[in-house]
Order: sequence, then C-alpha cells, then structure tokens
Amino acid sequence: MSAASVPGEHVAVRLVGSELAATLRARSAEVAAELAAGGTPPPKLAVVVATEDESSHAYVRSIARAAHKVGLACDIVDLGAGASTPEIQKTLTALGDDDDVHGTIVQTPLPPGVAAQDVVTSIDPAKDVDGANPSSLGRLATGLPAFAPATAEAVIALLDHHEIELAGKDVVVVGRSTVVGVPVAHLLLARDASVTVCHSRTADLAAHTRQADIVIVAAGRPELVTGDHIAARTVVVDVGTNPTDDGGLVGDVAAAQVGAIAGALTPVPGGVGPVTTALLLWHTVDAARAR
Ligand SMILES: NC(=O)c1ccc[n+]([C@@H]2O[C@H](COP(=O)([O-])OP(=O)(O)OC[C@H]3O[C@@H](n4cnc5c(N)ncnc54)[C@H](OP(=O)(O)O)[C@@H]3O)[C@@H](O)[C@H]2O)c1
Repeated sequence: MSAASVPGEHVAVRLVGSELAATLRARSAEVAAELAAGGTPPPKLAVVVATEDESSHAYVRSIARAAHKVGLACDIVDLGAGASTPEIQKTLTALGDDDDVHGTIVQTPLPPGVAAQDVVTSIDPAKDVDGANPSSLGRLATGLPAFAPATAEAVIALLDHHEIELAGKDVVVVGRSTVVGVPVAHLLLARDASVTVCHSRTADLAAHTRQADIVIVAAGRPELVTGDHIAARTVVVDVGTNPTDDGGLVGDVAAAQVGAIAGALTPVPGGVGPVTTALLLWHTVDAARAR
C-alpha cells in the first residue's frame, strides 16, 4: 500500500497491482522452468482473435509478450473479422484436442452476428483459463474447482494482497456481467462477505454504495461513481478501463473526488489490470501443471 500525504487533506491508500503482478509472474516463471527441467514443453496459451479492432490486437500482442517473458508459449490464432460462429467453434474444439495447448481464450469483440455465448461453450473447461465457458461460472457458483475469470479473481487477489478483510464485510458490486460482476460476487460469497449486486436498473445506486465497507465498480461507465457515492474509509476497487480521447484510460470511479474520501482506492491504470494479465498466465501454468 502507498499513500501520498498532503498536509490537511485526506488521501486514500493506493491499492496498486504492480507488486502482486510481479509476484504472480515470478511464480509462473518458476513453475514453467520446473516443467521445462522435467522435459515438459512450455505451458502454452492460445488466443483466438476475430476482429480488425487495432486496440484488441495491441492487447493480444501485450499478452503474448508477457507470456514469453515468463517462459510460456503463446499462439495468436487470428481468424479474421469475417469468421463465422461454426468456424470459431471448430477452432476452439481443435485447440481443446491439441495436447500442446494448456489455456485458451477468445478475445472480444467478435465479428458482427457472432454471439460470445455461442462460441465460449466450445472452450475445453480444463483449458478455460479466463472462466468464459458457462460451465466454469456454474462450477464457481456451486463451490467446485474452476478457473474464475481472471479480472474477477484479480479483484479478490488485490484485496488479499493489501490485507483487506472480506469475511463479514458488506460489499457492493456495481455491474452484473458474467465477466466481472457476477463471478466477483460468487468469489466474495465464498469468502463470507455479504454481497449486494447493483446494475443499470438499480433505483438508487448511492444509497447502496454509501452503506458499504467495500465497493467494487465494473460498469464500463467513465467516472460513474463520484464522491457522493462513497462514505469515509470505504475501500473502492475500480475495474473500469475506459479509453480517453488523448489515448489514456479512465476508470469507472472519479478518482480525485473518491480518493479524497475513501479509505483506499485502486488506481487506473495500475490497479486491477496488471494483476488480471498475470493471473491469466498463472492459470495457464496451473493448467499445464495439473495435466
Ligand atoms: N482491468 C481489467 O482487466 C478489465 C477486464 C475486464 C473488464 N474491464 C472493464 O470493466 C468494466 C466493466 O466491464 P464488463 O465487461 O463487466 O462490462 P459490461 O458487460 O458492459 O457490463 C457492465 C455492467 O455495468 C452495469 N451498469 C451500466 N451502467 C450502470 C449504471 N449507470 N449504474 C449501475 N450499473 C451500471 C450494467 O448493468 P445492466 O446489466 O443492467 O446492463 C452491466 O451489468 C469496463 O470498463 C471494462 O473495460 C477491465
């Protein structure tokens, strides 16, 4: 934890992700090296892409670079923006059958007319390192072993790393996507938190968030959560990553306002994001180790 101190002004503790991400990367590198020493080929992540969106390609290339740095292999399977649902399904089934591949993810956006829910069911659950197949979410919800979506797990890992207690706490999750909001709610329940999930039809968001010990925001709405939503000493996790006109990123939380009130706040960028990528790689190593 770190906090810049300005005399006379409250500044929330910054829940940075870099240290935890480095620890996770080191652990991945160590296990990958152990596997290599035993004669096993490197754990391999396959990333299926079917878009011309340049920011998606840049993100995928950054995952591949991060994978290579810790001794993992990473195949980018580019099907092009014209790929059909059956084509993507067939590719995912083939990756499931490929013994050299340990983890598989599908990058969004998908081509027009291809629904994510129609293709993610073709990801082999044993290789579902970003918890995208509904069977992974079902297992998570019923307390069975499964890979959680990396972002949802990153939220919990970051809170644990900064020694923020979850058991018995009132936690409000803003957002109910199956990528972040819903899985994070299940992970919190498994850790004995009392969880409220808010969404776009919640009548009075601030009435919920002001009562919380911890607020986790994953709404994809720039600076949705302001100072009016947060009580003093609340811990706030900002999952949002919204691109700005100048090429930067802004979170779902108005950082300056909330940072002057909250007890702790994750920065954007530099909070949940780096931990998410590191966990994706760790899940791939874990899948290889389990094999
Ligand atoms: N850091 C990372 O590694 C990482 C990874 C994944 C996502 N993200 C970011 O996290 C954010 C959320 O992603 P997502 O995939 O979960 O987004 P999503 O699928 O668009 O879901 C957004 C959720 O927020 C709710 N919401 C929207 N407007 C709201 C409002 N005014 N008040 C309350 N709830 C509202 C929506 O409610 P309804 O269900 O009612 O529509 C929905 O449940 C995005 O900024 C995304 O870029 C970051």
